[in-house]
Amino acid sequence: MMRLENKVAVITGGSGGIGSAAVRLFVENGANVLAVDRDEDRLQEAIAGLNPEKAAYCCADVSQEADVDAYMRAAVERFGGVDIALLNAGVLGELLPITEYPVEMFDAVTSVNLRGAWLGLRAAFGHMKGRGGGSIVMTSSVQGLSAIQYTTAYTASKHAVVGMMRGAALEGAQFKIRVNTVHPGLTNTQMMGGLHEQLASEAETEQTAQGIMDDWAQTVPMRRYASPVELARLMLFLASDDASYCTGQTYVADGGLLTSWTPTVTEDGMQGHNSSGPRV
Ligand SMILES: NC(=O)c1ccc[n+]([C@@H]2O[C@H](COP(=O)([O-])OP(=O)(O)OC[C@H]3O[C@@H](n4cnc5c(N)ncnc54)[C@H](O)[C@@H]3O)[C@@H](O)[C@H]2O)c1
Repeated sequence: MMRLENKVAVITGGSGGIGSAAVRLFVENGANVLAVDRDEDRLQEAIAGLNPEKAAYCCADVSQEADVDAYMRAAVERFGGVDIALLNAGVLGELLPITEYPVEMFDAVTSVNLRGAWLGLRAAFGHMKGRGGGSIVMTSSVQGLSAIQYTTAYTASKHAVVGMMRGAALEGAQFKIRVNTVHPGLTNTQMMGGLHEQLASEAETEQTAQGIMDDWAQTVPMRRYASPVELARLMLFLASDDASYCTGQTYVADGGLLTSWTPTVTEDGMQGHNSSGPRV
């Protein structure tokens, strides 16, 4: 028996790195999946090759109330209801000191990561209450439990997701709605690629984006970035009935990063200080 047989899942950020890995894995495990994201071409790519009976997409901006209601409705119309909501869309913003951080960027980051997550949570709750339960998985970050310099809006929004999850888990228990957060560490997606590019272009040295990634990987006890599917597997567990007694909790997949991470972002990039082993 496949782990998500007969379940309907909505996955936001569904054409991104982690989201598209989850779309694929959830379909492979028997779910009907609606992938939600902003760009139609990328959504088509995300579901390419999957059984068209089981994978569909919807273009939406998760920060807009009408779009959120529309994507949930689309899942109900297409597949008959919503059992799983993976609220995963997110944006990082630039790395900037707090005094240089534009308020417009703060609003842009929090409108997706915080408002978008809350709108999705609210809409999923409405559908799941009527259906007798469900599982909501919200993508936070290691920065939802810790922080690095120069990312105040992102860090605040990812901490806020944890608070939202805890409140919703308490409220959802009586309706058999489970709510949990997943906290990725450094994961090899376009989000991190964009950040490496930004830092490489600003660096005074000749450092390349790949060089920055290689250096940062050495700050992780496992000495590597996660591949998106390694996060998707944790999300699959939380979405499935295997996690039937799990609610209100934070689940980290970070290669050991948070066990000893005291990262500092300097003009030369991120310096990790891990005590878990010698630097290579
Ligand atoms: N990559 C990492 O190292 C890392 C680490 C910690 C947490 N995360 C979190 O994981 C989640 C997935 O990120 P990813 O690494 O796959 O990055 P990604 O950039 O590949 O995917 C993010 C997706 O969210 C979508 N999105 C952004 N704003 C949206 C909006 N307003 N409406 C609809 N969709 C929108 C983007 O189009 C993109 O497809 C994010 O919440 C991110 O904050 C990532």
